[in-house]
Amino acid sequence: MVPTAQQFDVVIIGGGPAGYAAALRGGLAGLNIAVVERDKVGGTCLHRGCIPAKEFLETATVYRTVTGAKEFGIEGDAPVVQFAQSQARKQKVVDQLWKGLQGLMKKRKVTTFEGTGTLGPDHLVRVSDGTELVGKHVILASGSAPRTIPGFEVDGKLVMTSDEVLSLERLPSSAVVIGGGAIGCEFASMLSDLGTQVTVLEALPKILPGCDTDIADVVLRSFKKRGIDVRTGVQVTGHTPAPDGSSTTVNFGEGEQVQVEAVVVSVGRRPLSDNLGLEGTKVQVDKRGFVEVDEYMRTAEPGVFAAGDLVDTPALAHVGFAEAIVIIDQILGDKVVPVDYTRVPWCIYCHPEVAFAGLSEDAAREAGYEVITKKDPFGGNGRALILGEPEGVVKVICEKKPDGSAGRILGVHMVGPWVTEQLGQAYLSVNWEATPEEAGHFIQPHPTLSETFGETVLALTGRGLHVG
Ligand code: NAI
Repeated sequence: MVPTAQQFDVVIIGGGPAGYAAALRGGLAGLNIAVVERDKVGGTCLHRGCIPAKEFLETATVYRTVTGAKEFGIEGDAPVVQFAQSQARKQKVVDQLWKGLQGLMKKRKVTTFEGTGTLGPDHLVRVSDGTELVGKHVILASGSAPRTIPGFEVDGKLVMTSDEVLSLERLPSSAVVIGGGAIGCEFASMLSDLGTQVTVLEALPKILPGCDTDIADVVLRSFKKRGIDVRTGVQVTGHTPAPDGSSTTVNFGEGEQVQVEAVVVSVGRRPLSDNLGLEGTKVQVDKRGFVEVDEYMRTAEPGVFAAGDLVDTPALAHVGFAEAIVIIDQILGDKVVPVDYTRVPWCIYCHPEVAFAGLSEDAAREAGYEVITKKDPFGGNGRALILGEPEGVVKVICEKKPDGSAGRILGVHMVGPWVTEQLGQAYLSVNWEATPEEAGHFIQPHPTLSETFGETVLALTGRGLHVG
């Protein structure tokens, strides 16, 4: 016990989604909470990730809508992209959410300390300005940073990560996106829709690894149709900037090259565990830098937990929220249900959008299930045609029962219009282990996009209305 240290029920290092969610839930329950944050509460998600990226993807949607307005009988001047204006709007949205979050934390009597926090023995957290805090419990939630690759040092001009792209004032006329995962596909989609000539270089045989193949194929077809050059199964070997620094030539594959104004590196994120201290504690960090936890988010040091991108679970803000709830409810002595990581919701906001929960067809087969699947394309959905967005499909994967009929829903995978907003009932069906009969019993309003999910599960009962 350090007598001069300020005492709290919980000290949280990092004010991103995992850290602030723990603070909000704990504060509401009357716990005395401290958050140590070196930058701004809200973390990557609010300031350099989910929120800014989706704002720019919305700019791309508005541009597509206005460009395609003639088909709906609306004519006007050809639209022009003023990206600086979109950047200003993004900042307004971010600042409003940031202000709201700070207000909420204050209301819940959370004390925020500015600086870098390090954990030592006996739950002592030192803030970089010398302040000392002791928590009955400590939560490590210092998040992650973009990974980079050798030969592509980030200079913020020719070579960028998501951090730099999200603060651009002007879009490049051409770009290589290295990595065709969630971030790569969102950026490729946004940049291409706003006029940048995009090449995606992905090391694996397909883009969006982890997604069901039928879903990833729809995105791939759409990207190709819109002029995005997607190259899979290629290694990137380096780049050579032009002498005037205005462009660079990227080398990849078997001696191939592409000259572009910018390179966006989106090859994953790494946990930020290097400056957490941890000497004299039992907290274990694995070879890749993730803090090791059990299913209750407990580290090996009693009373010390970790959550969010710092632990080796899906790097999603809402997973951080769920982990924060597991931790705080445990501290409060309430009933706790660990997160089932095989069934969390995933949403990727490229155009067309992707959303899924549960096992893909391949993952289900690899897990030893015999499966029955059904797909229903949005092309037959009235609302999708009205919106002019018929591209996409809903795919439901069920366990095959001994009599050959479809049993428990193992996974629902969607691509198409607004699927990120349609995932709710699919997510519930997977997590409640519903059968197609049970999920199909519920009525879908007409005409809605969600009818496509309803049709797919009904078809799996053998009695689809429109789908055989
Ligand atoms: P990711 O792990 O999803 O994808 C990285 C991709 O880069 C993979 O396809 C990988 O094969 C490829 N790659 C790796 N090294 C490469 C190389 N040298 N050359 C070419 N390709 C290479 O990581 P990403 O997209 O950077 O996202 C990071 C994290 O952020 C993810 O874990 C994701 O969960 C999360 N995220 C989620 C979003 C969402 O759900 N909407 C949006 C953005 C991020």
